[in-house]
Amino acid sequence: MRIAEELGLRVSPRLRVVALTGAGISLESGVPIFRGEGSMWEIPEARRLASRAGPPWNTRGTWEYYEWRRGLVSRCKPNPAHYALAEMEEYFEDFCLITQNVDGLHSRAGSRRVLELHGSMWRGRCLECGRVIELPETPLKALPPLCACGRPLRPDVVQFGEPIDPAVLSSALAACRSAELFLVVGTSAVVYPAAQMPLIAIESGARAVEINPNPTPLTPFMSLSIRGRAAESLPRLWEELLSSASA
Ligand code: OAD
Repeated sequence: MRIAEELGLRVSPRLRVVALTGAGISLESGVPIFRGEGSMWEIPEARRLASRAGPPWNTRGTWEYYEWRRGLVSRCKPNPAHYALAEMEEYFEDFCLITQNVDGLHSRAGSRRVLELHGSMWRGRCLECGRVIELPETPLKALPPLCACGRPLRPDVVQFGEPIDPAVLSSALAACRSAELFLVVGTSAVVYPAAQMPLIAIESGARAVEINPNPTPLTPFMSLSIRGRAAESLPRLWEELLSSASA
């Protein structure tokens, strides 16, 4: 049976689709995940640099860690999973991409509207005047980079215990409540509020599909769990959904 039929969905541009992504989607691009095998904390340089990063986050030590990550990501390319989501945005009239990733790979794959729950490593924010400044070049000329007001910037990334931008959060929650199909790709689903979002969508009537080589706390709630790598499984799922639309 076709996946769309199995899920009880009619695929058309009017289907309301939300995708939530985590670090696993970028792993095959070469960006380390946060937890488990092959993760960030197994890299001695990451451990060394991260130990010097900390509040108020606008220090040279923090930026050395972020410059290491920015340099790493700048050498990575989006993979077929990122491109599949960019194609979905083109096809579906009401498509929302929510990511926990700060690597910017969704935008580089062509996604135009990305709700970045945890911010972006490609921006800095001023603790003094609140300006948010794009910092696309790496390496930066000076660490820490400075705001137009002369004060040091911090990375525009949400650290543990910090609030998510309320506008981003409310757009994400609104999308969850109206989703008909919810895709959960490459997240361990242990960090909130992201981990709650698929459950909000399911409670509101969405069918949910998880793509992850490993089970997660969300697995028991899924309509379908695909045990595979995002770069293979997501383009395959997208192709399969599209083929049932044109049938
Ligand atoms: P994690 O590192 O916690 O989880 C990565 C998930 O990707 C795991 O469930 C893996 O099984 C899965 N995975 C591994 N390889 C994969 C592949 N090829 N394709 C698909 N999935 C794969 O990363 P996140 O869930 O994104 O927050 O972590 C959430 C948040 O915790 C991050 O945004 C960050 C972190 O601390 C902040 O920095 C605030």
